[in-house]
Amino acid sequence: MIHVVDIHKTFVVKDKKTRKKKTIDAVKGISFHVKPGEIYGLLGPNGAGKSTTLRMIAGLMEPQSGSITVFDHDAMTASEKVRRCIGFLSTDLGVYGRFTPRELLRIFGEFQGVDPKVAERRGMHMLERLDLTDFADVKMESFSSGQKQKVSIARALLHDPKAVLFDEPTTGLDVLTAKTVLDLLKIMKEEERAVIVSTHVMPMVEQMCDRVGIIFDGKLHGDAPPKEILSQYGVGTLDEVFFKLAADGGVA
Ligand SMILES: Nc1ncnc2c1ncn2[C@@H]1O[C@H](COP(=O)(O)OP(=O)(O)OP(=O)(O)O)[C@@H](O)[C@H]1O
Ligand SMILES: [Mg+2]
Repeated sequence: MIHVVDIHKTFVVKDKKTRKKKTIDAVKGISFHVKPGEIYGLLGPNGAGKSTTLRMIAGLMEPQSGSITVFDHDAMTASEKVRRCIGFLSTDLGVYGRFTPRELLRIFGEFQGVDPKVAERRGMHMLERLDLTDFADVKMESFSSGQKQKVSIARALLHDPKAVLFDEPTTGLDVLTAKTVLDLLKIMKEEERAVIVSTHVMPMVEQMCDRVGIIFDGKLHGDAPPKEILSQYGVGTLDEVFFKLAADGGVA
């Protein structure tokens, strides 16, 4: 179970021209929970706060206030345990060109404390599922963005995580591979894992997410099954919910 309770995150950035500091309230009091066997869709326009939220859940960044627990581990005080039970696919892929997929998966397996033989077997199985077996021993510097994305997906799932956070998993993938990834997420659900997926692909959300939260200006809207959200807003698609939220400045 993933519990996110009233989290806030503010960044301070420096404007190069004016040399003044300004604060960005990226996340302004977001709460939701995701049960095992559930796929939660996190939506929102560019810069809404989706990746920041996922990074905080993954224990990679601390919220200023609020609390996050992942399968009873506190993301702030037990971030190591949280990282062990979370498979996080981030948008900055962390794929190092000098390595081959096999080498990267071995290193990551060691880092996560997975038995090397198990890591090799799981890693190769993931590469096979993603149709990348022929590239297992090729240096990743020559990989296309989709091939890198595939390696990152294999890496995120290598340690058999109970919670899966996928930030824009289908970006850069062809339709066949995108379908493979969506099928993988459905398998994660069937295996009773708690899944959060952030995406801009609305039909995918409507089709596969059990619940959806839309982040607009750092706040969460919806937090309900897609059909309920549509009837709540009196529209036929999630795109239209977006347009309504944008027109109303996030207060719809
Ligand atoms: N490390 C950081 N330092 C400063 N500002 C940051 C940092 N990370 C995120 N932000 C800011 O916080 C806000 C939310 O960013 P975030 O990456 O969470 O958005 P997002 O919803 O994932 O957007 P996208 O759909 O474009 O990926 C943005 O205004 C962004 O500029
Ligand atoms: Mg993002």
